[in-house]
Amino acid sequence: MMTLFYLILILFNIIQIDSSLNTCRQTFGPNKYDLNQLSHLTILGEEKPFRYVLTPCGLVPTNKCGSSTSSFEPGMTACQERIPDARFESAMGFLDGYGKSPNLLFNENPQGPGTGIVMTMRNALCNGHERFVNVTFICDENIKQPTKMNVIEGPICKFKIIVRAAEACPVKGGITGGGITGGAIFIIILFVLIIVYLVCGIIYNRYKQNQTGLAVIPNRSFWLLLGGMFVDGCKFTWNFVRNCAQRTFSSSASYESV
Ligand SMILES: *[C@@H]1O[C@H](CO)[C@@H](O)[C@H](O)[C@H]1NC(C)=O
Repeated sequence: MMTLFYLILILFNIIQIDSSLNTCRQTFGPNKYDLNQLSHLTILGEEKPFRYVLTPCGLVPTNKCGSSTSSFEPGMTACQERIPDARFESAMGFLDGYGKSPNLLFNENPQGPGTGIVMTMRNALCNGHERFVNVTFICDENIKQPTKMNVIEGPICKFKIIVRAAEACPVKGGITGGGITGGAIFIIILFVLIIVYLVCGIIYNRYKQNQTGLAVIPNRSFWLLLGGMFVDGCKFTWNFVRNCAQRTFSSSASYESV
């Protein structure tokens, strides 16, 4: 039961690590930015007759993009909706890794060091041509978890979006900035939980069940099974590597004999 719980936790953590994007962590000189801090938000903007929705460094919830007859392309981070009939108009840009190019581009806000970060998206279409979207995230300590943005289109198919956010400020030292990451904290917690589990399990088996020797180990059969699987895995890998090595060796040997 406990072990199943840990396995689920580990899986969950791997998914979490995956969902935070490396490209959204950028360093310019002494300033580090992490736009992943905005990836749970749905930020709205309007320029009639359109409404725009952006989830920086995350997938925009498609139910916020208006209705569509065809299915949405995967990887959409921002979308455009036609307000009068609440209809999906188009994708504004896609995250990296969903088969669109070019990838997102990041620069520091031209206003100066530490003032924010500009994300340029050029991987969605606009009337069959490139859609150019500059999203300027301006560092503003007073606006935490923004819900609004300014959007201007002009000239046609060139968009300028401005998001003011505390999360667009350079990341300071300490837990989020330097050393300890979420992953490290998780591993520490997991380690502590495993120790607590082992100690409690051993005490329980020893004094309540009156077991002795190896039998005090909690869920012993499970761990033996896991150990066996680990050994099998190692054997398989070792054989595989050895076969590869042999093949390389014999082919190089035949070269020599020529
Ligand atoms: C978009 O942002 C980049 C980086 O700040 C800047 O160099 C470029 O001039 C901007 N383009 C437009 C059309 O605003």
